Amino acid sequence: MRNINKDNITDVFMEYMGDEVPPRLHEVMESLVKHLHAFAKEVNLTHEEWQVGIEFLERSGEISDAERHEFVLLSDVLGLSSLVDMLHSHPEGTSSSVLGPFHISGAPPLEIGGDLKGRFEGEVLIAEGIVKDTEGNPIEGATVDIWQTAPNGLYSSQDPDQDTYSFHGLQTTGADGRYAFTSVKPVEYTVPSDGPVGDILNATGRHPWRPSHLHFIIKAEGFRDLVTEVFPDDDPYLDEDTVFGVRDDLVMSYKQMPAGSFPDGFALSGTVDEPYLRVDFDLTLVRE
Ligand code: BEZ
Ligand code: FE
Repeated sequence: MRNINKDNITDVFMEYMGDEVPPRLHEVMESLVKHLHAFAKEVNLTHEEWQVGIEFLERSGEISDAERHEFVLLSDVLGLSSLVDMLHSHPEGTSSSVLGPFHISGAPPLEIGGDLKGRFEGEVLIAEGIVKDTEGNPIEGATVDIWQTAPNGLYSSQDPDQDTYSFHGLQTTGADGRYAFTSVKPVEYTVPSDGPVGDILNATGRHPWRPSHLHFIIKAEGFRDLVTEVFPDDDPYLDEDTVFGVRDDLVMSYKQMPAGSFPDGFALSGTVDEPYLRVDFDLTLVRE
């Protein structure tokens, strides 16, 4: 085609795609280019604005490495990651929520009731729950991969003062489906905002804060993997999570427990004479 114009360019793109393109790739590319062209027309995109966009993508590539995933962060703050999550969440299971960039594989095994707190000071928190199916039956042999920030708001991969796997642990449920651990309450923290994505947040009048949360990945044979988080119901950023991760069923009351009531069956480095917090959070998996 040589008489390309702004009215036919989208259709011409479709014609240029080969006959052998797999149907799903064809569908995705067709829709992507249709919406991309429609976007440029709708805002009457200028050369200067196009250039700003290209430079943004270049800077995102330059700042990215094995630990810094600026394009994932971009997807997160645009709400795309959460939208994809919600498109594939099953109504009968626990809602999924963003994975984020700070999960590391190979977390060490953590016994049921084990201690993630280690040498760190902070508000002691007990977390426990049952991994179950949609009929409420406990799931034996599920792995529960847990990770969170230290009380300084940093994940181990961001903080040279932490060991690689500090605040990371992997539990395997027994016949009762139960996971349980002791930790400290994670604090609210900001997503990395010193790069191009931070510039977008600034330019659009947004802050980089996320509410406090514990991360989980749960896997069990015959069930869909679940990537999720739990949030305390009194967090000031619950209604403005910058990566759109909060869902009603993931917001839990962190109960204040009285001094002297620390339960048996939970390990803890040091003793708890003060009041502590407790969150009960069951995790419902959907069959494959
Ligand atoms: C996180 O919760 O770890 C996270 C999620 C999205 C972007 C940055 C951090
Ligand atoms: Fe996080």
